[in-house]
Amino acid sequence: MKQLRIDDTSYPVLRQLTLPVVAITSAAGGVRNGMIANSAQRASLVPEIARVSLYVSKPNYTHDLVYRSGLFGLHLLRRDQWELIWHLGLQSGRELDKLAAVPTRGGATGCPLLTDCAAAFECRVINAMDAGAATFFLGEVVGFEGSGVTEVMTSSYFRRHMPADKKRVYEARLADAMDYLAPLARQVDPARHWPGPSAEP
Ligand SMILES: Cc1cc2nc3c(=O)[nH]c(=O)nc-3n(C[C@H](O)[C@H](O)[C@H](O)COP(=O)(O)O)c2cc1C
Repeated sequence: MKQLRIDDTSYPVLRQLTLPVVAITSAAGGVRNGMIANSAQRASLVPEIARVSLYVSKPNYTHDLVYRSGLFGLHLLRRDQWELIWHLGLQSGRELDKLAAVPTRGGATGCPLLTDCAAAFECRVINAMDAGAATFFLGEVVGFEGSGVTEVMTSSYFRRHMPADKKRVYEARLADAMDYLAPLARQVDPARHWPGPSAEP
């Protein structure tokens, strides 16, 4: 069996494991924000205990908000929601208030949720694991609203249909991120336990 190495052609194969392109929202201490992720997946087999997991890079502003409030909204997107992906995924909330331009409503937990999406899951963090450059959050789904749209934005649809100009920006940002994520990635701290929420949304 061929050994997986990040510096050869195995990496694109590893990328097949990626998941839908989703929008993540959160809020802490009165600050709201949102980002794009392709690392969210179902994390429970028990239908009445719906859970998801999410891998968020530590330098992302949204990471701090989720870590502090223990709340996030996870949104499946329609296949035409390109502008939202660029808006939330190619710029940081450290530079501007991204949600000011996006219609939202407050969920039962106080977490902001997008009103225009294929489906919205409101989640409360019940555990987290340090992953060096990122944190894995385990979220319990406490609220759901679906639009009935089934053709959601998947990673493969995203890659196949991404316009060339945006592909250049996306790949350049990804390459830049490697400079600060690569050293962090090796610093996994198994003893780092999530202390629970420290801020209201
Ligand atoms: C298609 C796509 C997928 C992404 N997937 C992830 C991901 O899984 N995890 C992550 O931390 N960032 C991911 N990002 C990057 C963040 O969305 C991006 O860094 C964003 O600007 C962070 O915003 P913030 O600093 O306001 O939180 C993705 C971006 C795009 C466009």
